[in-house]
Amino acid sequence: MINIALPKGRLGEKVYDMLERAGYGCPSIKEPGRKLIFENEEAGVRYFWVKPSDVSIYVERGAADIGIAGKDILLEYSPDVYELLDLNIGKCRMAVAAKSDFYDDKQKTLKVATKFVNIAKAHYTSVGRDIDIIKLNGSIEIAPILGLSDVIVDIVETGATLKENNLEVIETIIPISARLISNKASFKFKTGEIEKLTEKMRLQIKTDD
Ligand code: PRP
Repeated sequence: MINIALPKGRLGEKVYDMLERAGYGCPSIKEPGRKLIFENEEAGVRYFWVKPSDVSIYVERGAADIGIAGKDILLEYSPDVYELLDLNIGKCRMAVAAKSDFYDDKQKTLKVATKFVNIAKAHYTSVGRDIDIIKLNGSIEIAPILGLSDVIVDIVETGATLKENNLEVIETIIPISARLISNKASFKFKTGEIEKLTEKMRLQIKTDD
């Protein structure tokens, strides 16, 4: 049995559809209700719906053998897991954004609001810029509007949230997509099963062209 942590929400549903097409379906998962654990003994899989940012915690600690996590979470928390596959879905980018009239005075310490403290610090360290980090937990776009920060470091998908709040991207830090990850010990003890699933998932990946 492979234990799989799925990220709750739209990305998780897309990932489950890929797994179903790959031969790891679990029909009960589509039944309405609040259940969080589903099993298909025949296909050898047990699924858990968890908060997207918690997937890598379940996998790192072995509560799940494998899972699907955004590259943003993997970069931010550096969990000790194997990254097996880029699924080419859940695509977005990590970017710096600011009000359209923002002028960057490079002599000043930059006030940066973000959920992604480690990604932001690494980015500004790499360009040698002093920053003051303001850690927020959501609705990051409000920070520059209210003068809490100069810029934000956040995920941009369609760009609609920025646009509707009169902000714009001033720099892209890194492209993001969903990754299949594995617990290290599970990969050792369930190598055959995990590699088989990985290869079947690889066949479900849609390229961009
Ligand atoms: C994310 C991100 C942006 C938005 C970007 O927020 O933080 O706010 O999506 O998407 P867009 O470019 O398509 O508008 P999320 O929905 O995860 O909520 P949050 O405010 O809790 O971060």
